[in-house]
Order: sequence, then C-alpha cells, then structure tokens
Amino acid sequence: MSETGNIRRLEGVVPGQATSDGAGVSLTRYIGSHFLSELDPFLLLDFFESDDPDDYIAGFPSHPHRGFETVTYLLAGKMRHGDNAGHSGVIETGGIQWMTAGRGIVHSEMPEQEDGRLAGFQLWVNLPASDKLCEPAYHEYPAAQIPAERHSSGGTVRVITGTTSAGTTGPVSGVVTRPLYLDVELPAGAIFEEMIPAQHSAFVFAIEGDVQFGESDGDGTLRSRELGILGEGERVMIHAGSTGARFLLVAARALHEPVARYGPFVMNTRSEIEQAIRDFNSGRF
Ligand code: FE2
Repeated sequence: MSETGNIRRLEGVVPGQATSDGAGVSLTRYIGSHFLSELDPFLLLDFFESDDPDDYIAGFPSHPHRGFETVTYLLAGKMRHGDNAGHSGVIETGGIQWMTAGRGIVHSEMPEQEDGRLAGFQLWVNLPASDKLCEPAYHEYPAAQIPAERHSSGGTVRVITGTTSAGTTGPVSGVVTRPLYLDVELPAGAIFEEMIPAQHSAFVFAIEGDVQFGESDGDGTLRSRELGILGEGERVMIHAGSTGARFLLVAARALHEPVARYGPFVMNTRSEIEQAIRDFNSGRF
C-alpha cells in the first residue's frame, strides 16, 4: 500500500429517511432524500431490509428509466427482473445487477420470494450528457463471480467494480464514471486502506458495526446504518470498532453537469425531460 496521498476525512454523516417506493416497498433512502439530494454522480441510494413480506411483496412493477444507471446489490433474498427488451433474470444473495438505462427502458423488479429476509441496495449513478441516450446495457453477476480479496488483517473485500491497490478487479467493467464499489468486512480493530482517485466522489455505508476513519479515532465514527460522505483526498483509511464492521465503499467520477430530474428520468435540461415524457408516453422506449 502506498503511503502517499492525502487521507479522505469523514466530511458528513447522513441519516436515512424512511419512505416507500414502487407499489409499496418499505425502504430507507440515503441519497435522493431531504438530507442529501445528490452526491454527484450518485442520484439515489436506497437500503431495504425486512423479513416481513408486507414490507416488500408489492415490489416495483413496470416502470421506465432514462439517462442514468441503476445498480442493485442484494445482501439477502432474490429479486426477479424483466424488461421490455426481453431481458430477464433473478438476482440472488450477493449478486449484482448494473443496468445502464441509457435512452430508455421499461422494467419491473419483483421479489422472487413470499417470505424470508430480503435486503440490499439500489444505487442510481448518473450518466454524462454524451452517454444519456446510449443503448441500454446490463452487467449481471452472481456472488460466485465477485472476487473476494483476503487481507492479512482478517478482512475480506468483495470487489464488484473497479480495481483495488492489491490488483483485484471486479467483474462490472466499462462504466463511464469509472466506479469503485467494494463490500468490506473487517474483524474487530482491523484496518482497511484503499486508494480512490482524487476527482471521484465517495461514500461509505455502514451495514454492521461502527466504522472509524483516519489514523486515529478522532477522525470521525460512522455508526451502523449511517452514510458517510468522504472529503477530498486520494486514499481512505478505516478501522473497525470493537465488534467488527461491514460497510460499502463506493466512489465514482463526479460529472459537474446540470441535473434535470423528474421521477425515473434524469437528464441535463428541462426540455430533455419533456422529451423523455413524450417518448415514454408514445411508446418509444
Ligand atoms: Fe427500476
């Protein structure tokens, strides 16, 4: 591990906002909420977790997207996905689906279970103007195809996309914002370090346990089920609290473009949103 580069501090802690979406799925929103409207290029982050089917069984029936990417990562359970181009599949525990909606897609995302635990994330990643109307595309990988890097500290890093300092590359490739998406598990007291390009926005989501930042405890602590925004710098140093920790570390290149947003359409201008609504209503997705 290189010791060069400034450490990214914990710049802000964002609580979740309880809400529901789709046909009535209970979830907690961390980006795209009253607390944090966006973190360029991230437009939305939802966390859902329940063993009560009433919280999830209604799912997300047929709905459109245009202009960005939707990323589903399941911690537990199964979700069935199908779209108007004939693509379908089931995402299972530990699996990732990185869907580039591009010019437009109409899809459904429904639980493939009637009981038991369903838990996971949906992240929306913006596309630059040059790519907003690209052809829709998918990257889908089950848990078995996501490499797990084992550290001497006892930590495990599942690499969904991007390349770690140790050279592990995740299966999701070719994404325009050059994201890093890591699922990190650390035993009590273990330290994790990683490089993140300086021009990337970055956040950490604490799934379990407390996550402590920097070289000492004084650099900030993120509690379980909080989202932490990382400040400027080139590397991150995190250590687990006394009970160990599991967290997501996600980063991607900021776009610095105007954002015009209307529900499932995210474009650069108001007129492009109006065009998206016209195209969807006249069946051109
Ligand atoms: Fe969707």
